[in-house]
Amino acid sequence: MKIAVCASEGAPYCKSGGLGDVMEALPAALSRIEGNEVALFLPYYYKVKSNAAYITEKIAEFRVSLGWRKQYCAIMKLTNRTDKVTVYFLDNEYYFGGRTGAIYGDMDDGERFAFFSRACLDAMIALEWTPDIIQCNDWQCALIPVYLKALYQAQFPKTRCMYTIHNIEYQGWANASFFDDMLGLPWEYRPRLDMNNSVNVMKGAIETADLVTTVSETYARELMYPYYAHGLDNVLAGNSWKLTGITNGIDTNTFNPETSKSLPAHFNSETFVEGKAQCKAALQKEVGLPVKPDVPLMVMVTRLAGHKGLDLLCYIARRLMWEEDAQLLILGTGETQYESFFKDLAKQFPEQVSAQITFNLGLADRIYAGGDIYLMPSKSEPCGLSQMNAMRYGTVPVVHATGGLKDTVPPCDADGKGGLGFTFQSYNADDFYAAIKRALNLYENDRPAFQALQKKEMETDFSWDVPAGRYMELFNNMLSW
Ligand code: GLC
Repeated sequence: MKIAVCASEGAPYCKSGGLGDVMEALPAALSRIEGNEVALFLPYYYKVKSNAAYITEKIAEFRVSLGWRKQYCAIMKLTNRTDKVTVYFLDNEYYFGGRTGAIYGDMDDGERFAFFSRACLDAMIALEWTPDIIQCNDWQCALIPVYLKALYQAQFPKTRCMYTIHNIEYQGWANASFFDDMLGLPWEYRPRLDMNNSVNVMKGAIETADLVTTVSETYARELMYPYYAHGLDNVLAGNSWKLTGITNGIDTNTFNPETSKSLPAHFNSETFVEGKAQCKAALQKEVGLPVKPDVPLMVMVTRLAGHKGLDLLCYIARRLMWEEDAQLLILGTGETQYESFFKDLAKQFPEQVSAQITFNLGLADRIYAGGDIYLMPSKSEPCGLSQMNAMRYGTVPVVHATGGLKDTVPPCDADGKGGLGFTFQSYNADDFYAAIKRALNLYENDRPAFQALQKKEMETDFSWDVPAGRYMELFNNMLSW
């Protein structure tokens, strides 16, 4: 099967969050399946272009229509990829190559990704490569199914399109004038993209894609409710027949405590007690906490954004530090209110709290390895990957039972049996505290049971093999229509 994967980010080239990780692992997993030919299309950002490690060759040039504009695009093929995935970067200096800042956040993001979406289809034509399936992701690629249906039926009559929602909070809104000025779509598509007299490209994708997926089964169900769907609940309810949840995996080669180059010591599910102890001591030293082997180290690696549940942690953090002999380490950047809160907390409790307000992938790895307990109280979480990274490294998760957290962390009892971590049901700071307390109690009062839980987590298969098989089932389904 010929599969095109289109996304605005993909590790290791360009990544701002979980989408980037998935776009590294999913295409690779699909390409390992016999008979598949997988091509990944990404923008040629300055960050990629200026990185000498990524050697590319220009293989085609063409123009992309955007309303009245005709914009230049070149296909830069990555020549030094070692697995079976073919990577094409789409180059336009004005939209991607000349912007030295973050991947997103420019005022013309709508135009940039409308360009990219249409350029993906034009690139397939230039390559004379007709995919059976286009799998595309999030609002940035939401116009792909729309263009495919509206303008590319002659070139791709049999190609089917799956649209995957990684986070429904970001939908791609634009003024109503964007439709005429930028998109060049037939007028009958206007209502499909219209929402409250504005353009909403995610709505357009849900309406036009052959299938819609999201990144966990629970999140797929949650999206039927206004609380989670951020205004799209009715649109999704009307298309619920085409919505499926497939829970992500993690890249078990990248996240591997036996081989990670970032770690001071390596371990597996047999040797973790010793290995994690070494990692913990080195980590405590690195982040300026007292090196205390028997004080439980609670950790978090997160964007400091509201929906990650930081308000719950802020509410209980001081009580937690006063009442428990425990340490707390946070790594991440984001909203100023949270950055300031955790910096202040670290000043108030220098022996117990360390706030690393930065983005550092190596340190993130050392935190997964050196932590004892991983906190993830997200208000909503489409899938979440870091709870799986934590478990792969034997760090026991405490999570809010929502979205993918619910699907990947079955709850265990106070004695550590029956599940993989400690969970709380209602989004409430005291319930979060109680779940943390259960984890701390087990650590302090029954270390063998705590270690049995760690071992069970480390032996759980979080790889992409199972989810990639589910994607294949749905691809085959679409092709049989
Ligand atoms: C988004 C979601 C996160 C998910 C990731 C990958 O970042 O917020 O929950 O794990 O995409 O699908």
